[in-house]
Amino acid sequence: MANNLLAGKKGIIFGALDEQSIAWKVAERAYAEGGRFVLTNAPVAMRFGKINELAEQCQTSVIPADATSMEDLENLVAKATEELGGPLDFILHSIGMSLNVRKGKPYTDLNHEWMQKTFDISAISFHKLMQTLYKQEAMNDHGSILALTYIAAQRVFPDYNEMAESKALLESFARSFGYHFGTLKKVRVNTISQSPTMTTAGSGVKGFKEFFDYADKMSPLGNASAEDCAAYCIAMFSDLTRSVTMQNLYHDGGFSSMGMSPALLG
Ligand SMILES: NC(=O)c1ccc[n+]([C@@H]2O[C@H](COP(=O)([O-])OP(=O)(O)OC[C@H]3O[C@@H](n4cnc5c(N)ncnc54)[C@H](O)[C@@H]3O)[C@@H](O)[C@H]2O)c1
Repeated sequence: MANNLLAGKKGIIFGALDEQSIAWKVAERAYAEGGRFVLTNAPVAMRFGKINELAEQCQTSVIPADATSMEDLENLVAKATEELGGPLDFILHSIGMSLNVRKGKPYTDLNHEWMQKTFDISAISFHKLMQTLYKQEAMNDHGSILALTYIAAQRVFPDYNEMAESKALLESFARSFGYHFGTLKKVRVNTISQSPTMTTAGSGVKGFKEFFDYADKMSPLGNASAEDCAAYCIAMFSDLTRSVTMQNLYHDGGFSSMGMSPALLG
């Protein structure tokens, strides 16, 4: 059901790779709610060609940008505001990638150059993006900036590896920049901490299927789906949440408040 919650709002959505991507669902929902936006992803992700299908569906264009490159981000923000005809109201950072996870390195034997690359892609890119938006004065008053995160920033999930520190850094950038954007233009900056979700990034983590089932049983509402995550993002982009900022918001079916569930003892 669409309620035109984003009517008249303009944005940028990062990270739609294929139909499983959380960002893909956010784009579909934002479009249904009357939002206008440009899509972006790393130039390598363009090779899959899928994102162009989404762009067609949402009557928009794709502007490639490597989120670790200031030059790419500056170009993206300049082009997006030009194409959409003015400053922006909503931004979704839905980017995560770990070289050590991808190459199967255990936490006790990490390659630290790869770790820095992981931090750059998964966390520092968020600061780079916000700094670019800030300097180009590309956000409207009461705009909303979101990044997606995971509870491994607060608690230990051993196979999540160096992504745990990436997410801790990402959440901290949201709080710190939330201050600067809030005092400047009442722009909100938050992170949404999402349940395990079957996507390319998610299923790259070792033992993901078993862990997905465990979290599903531990959560009174079950794991939150990508579709429900998209709905939450829309709520956070809308005018209904204008005073929520600098928060890490759990969207996890109750997982983060649980200690033990009888469902797991069966
Ligand atoms: N899937 C899960 O279980 C889960 C749970 C909690 C949080 N998250 C977070 O949700 C976000 C989206 O992930 P997803 O699960 O939809 O997976 P996904 O693989 O569909 O999305 C990750 C995206 O990051 C993009 N990306 C990688 N390197 C990039 C770069 N240098 N520049 C620009 N983009 C780049 C990829 O192309 C891809 O589109 C990530 O931040 C992830 O950590 C995922």
